[in-house]
Amino acid sequence: MNFIETIAARRSIRVFTDEMVTDEQIKTLLTAGMNAPSARNMQPWHFMVIKDRKTINRIIEICPNGALLKGAPMAILVLGDLHISGDYCALDCSAAVENILLAAQAEELGACWIGVYPRPETRETRGPQKIVQAA
Ligand SMILES: Cc1cc2nc3c(=O)[nH]c(=O)nc-3n(C[C@H](O)[C@H](O)[C@H](O)COP(=O)(O)O)c2cc1C
Repeated sequence: MNFIETIAARRSIRVFTDEMVTDEQIKTLLTAGMNAPSARNMQPWHFMVIKDRKTINRIIEICPNGALLKGAPMAILVLGDLHISGDYCALDCSAAVENILLAAQAEELGACWIGVYPRPETRETRGPQKIVQAA
């Protein structure tokens, strides 16, 4: 499949098998995300790979659109860091998400974008929050 065919073939997939995505595939998805364009090349994203069932279930609880994660063996949370880039953060992260979805299609993995931003009810803080600073 060439690249345009991959783009045309991509569809949102909302039902999953429990087959685990390999580390090699995860690396491919993250590489695609990290190679997205970003305003002033600020790359204001963090990618959180979540395979732990308890954590996925917690996301389902706090994210109204998260129900489709019920059968998913893993999720990638794309976090926009407003300390790195303000105005363009959401756009930059959207480009990263789309790259990840296209890479998933190329890897013959089913995937779906779950919208959190910019709905206020999904952005508000629930429970204690800790700011973790990467060294
Ligand atoms: C910003 C954004 C947020 C989305 N959020 C959700 C979501 O929360 N749940 C969902 O099932 N699909 C979500 N989608 C997927 C769209 O519903 C889907 O892309 C659209 O219906 C077109 O279908 P396709 O992806 O199969 O081409 C989202 C897509 C985008 C771009």
